[in-house]
Amino acid sequence: MNTLSELITKEMEQAFTAAGYDAKFAKVTVSNRPDLCEYQCNGAMAAAKTYKKAPIMIANDIVANLQDSECFAQVDAVNPGFINLKLKSSFVTAFLNEMAGDDTLGVEKEANPKTILIDYGGPNVAKPLHVGHLRSAIIGESVKRIMRFKGNDVTGDIHLGDWGYQMGLIITELEKRQPDLPYFDESFEGEYPKEAPFTIGELEEIYPTASGYAKEHEEYREKALQATYLLQNGHKGYRAIWKHIMNVSVTDLKKNYKNLNVEFDLWKGEADAQKYIPGMVEMLKEKGFAHVDEGALVVDVQEEGDKKEIPPCMILKSDGAALYDTTDLATLVEREELYKPDEVIYVVDKRQELHFVQVFRCAKKCGIVRPETGLKFLGFGTMNGKDGKPFKTREGGVMRLENLIREIDEEMYKKIMDNRTVEEEEARNTAKTVGLAAIKYGDLSNQASKDYVFDVDRFTSFEGNTGPYILYTIVRIKSILGKYQQDGGIIEDLKLQEATNESEKALMLEIAKFNEMINNVYAEIAPHKICAYIYDVANAFNKFYHETKILAEEDAQKKAGYIALLKLTKDVLETCIDLLGFEAPERM
Ligand code: ARG
Repeated sequence: MNTLSELITKEMEQAFTAAGYDAKFAKVTVSNRPDLCEYQCNGAMAAAKTYKKAPIMIANDIVANLQDSECFAQVDAVNPGFINLKLKSSFVTAFLNEMAGDDTLGVEKEANPKTILIDYGGPNVAKPLHVGHLRSAIIGESVKRIMRFKGNDVTGDIHLGDWGYQMGLIITELEKRQPDLPYFDESFEGEYPKEAPFTIGELEEIYPTASGYAKEHEEYREKALQATYLLQNGHKGYRAIWKHIMNVSVTDLKKNYKNLNVEFDLWKGEADAQKYIPGMVEMLKEKGFAHVDEGALVVDVQEEGDKKEIPPCMILKSDGAALYDTTDLATLVEREELYKPDEVIYVVDKRQELHFVQVFRCAKKCGIVRPETGLKFLGFGTMNGKDGKPFKTREGGVMRLENLIREIDEEMYKKIMDNRTVEEEEARNTAKTVGLAAIKYGDLSNQASKDYVFDVDRFTSFEGNTGPYILYTIVRIKSILGKYQQDGGIIEDLKLQEATNESEKALMLEIAKFNEMINNVYAEIAPHKICAYIYDVANAFNKFYHETKILAEEDAQKKAGYIALLKLTKDVLETCIDLLGFEAPERM
């Protein structure tokens, strides 16, 4: 389906041509003065130079050619040459009825679907998930859903941090505590038992203990580094412990991400990329891309026209160890071999931007990816507390994801229980659903690259630009539709009717922007624009609701039209929140 702007632009093109002007000036956009008009065309201004005429004269010529248009109820030329447009209700209604009959509500699938891989989540195995990982998960999940909705073949990869120093720390601490385990012997060959020598609870305690201890004790740190090295170089016993750590952690991570309504197609990680490193290093040397600089193997990535210095990509340290650059490059080798993505999108803290600039340049320069492969860095800002500093617990420690979620759920639960008689269990479940919406909407309503303040009070409010407000609106619509059905009404296949008042028309115009909005969100990878849109829709709906008797309407056709409008509003809002990664409860 065309967007409403496209349809109106076509109508304007005809008018421009008929009046003797080039149709390229006919572009129409949503009005930025909603008090004056609904859509506007500024083409007369641009055409003025070409035709050496006053813009207002051109605008007048156009208006004269639009007198019996199917689209417009009112067309005005205003100084210095704007063309203000108000749409006919019949035109908007026909558009909405077509949209209501379409599976994807008028959104066209990508004409050339791409294979897209999204690298998001990025938790570090055995280290606690913190709020920094929350943003990646929330934004990445939404981006994945948006790309999919447009018909692309999308794979989400969690890209675990599962190959670092934390593993050496855990091995060292474990050896200290349980020296009798068979794994520590260099000659360990045997099968490792199914049962892990620790629970997730113990593992969560082992890492911070070991990490703290290593900071104070040189010898212990050396041991942990050595263990990391041995693990990475084939020590079979350590590898067995590593597998235990992975099994226990991944089970726990899956539970955590499920609670966030975040789902990955691939549970790969840094460890999977290791086997691609030797071949890649060989290639980089052989083709002359890499050279030795102060003992380290590096690839220059500085390009002409750079305003600042971009340091070389570090492939191997002087002791032969691989680095973060190496792993991300090897992961691209792996991805190219296994999935051949047209595009890879990284949803990572924006403070890692330089690393990705280096990796992307190196991958392109050395032919690790194809010249046409799109490598995109979607960097996000920091989640701050009300004091403007990175979000902390009340005691000043790093806020763990689980605790943050628990805090929000508690707050939601209290609000739901206030002045309401709800069963305990229902209230708890609703609090979870609404709490998740509060967190996700609070995050996604900000442009991803910006820092934002995580404000529990504001995010959990049922009023204002919040997740709970959006859900409340959906629940309100569901409740009206439910009553209509209880009275024997059938919702399916009802047709929208022409608007009879201002607030109804305003709502219809908002709904009609859906496919255009989605196209923009998709082109710009900008989930925050979905939030801005549904906030407008929710406001328009609530105004309409307060000014209109819906179920009490006596004119049956009019009432059916209202119900059809409500159903479409609900479908639009629910599609949008699904793209944001949350859902609405039945009641709240
Ligand atoms: N594990 C990393 C961290 O916690 C994020 C990984 C991002 N993805 C990547 N391909 N480097 O900072």
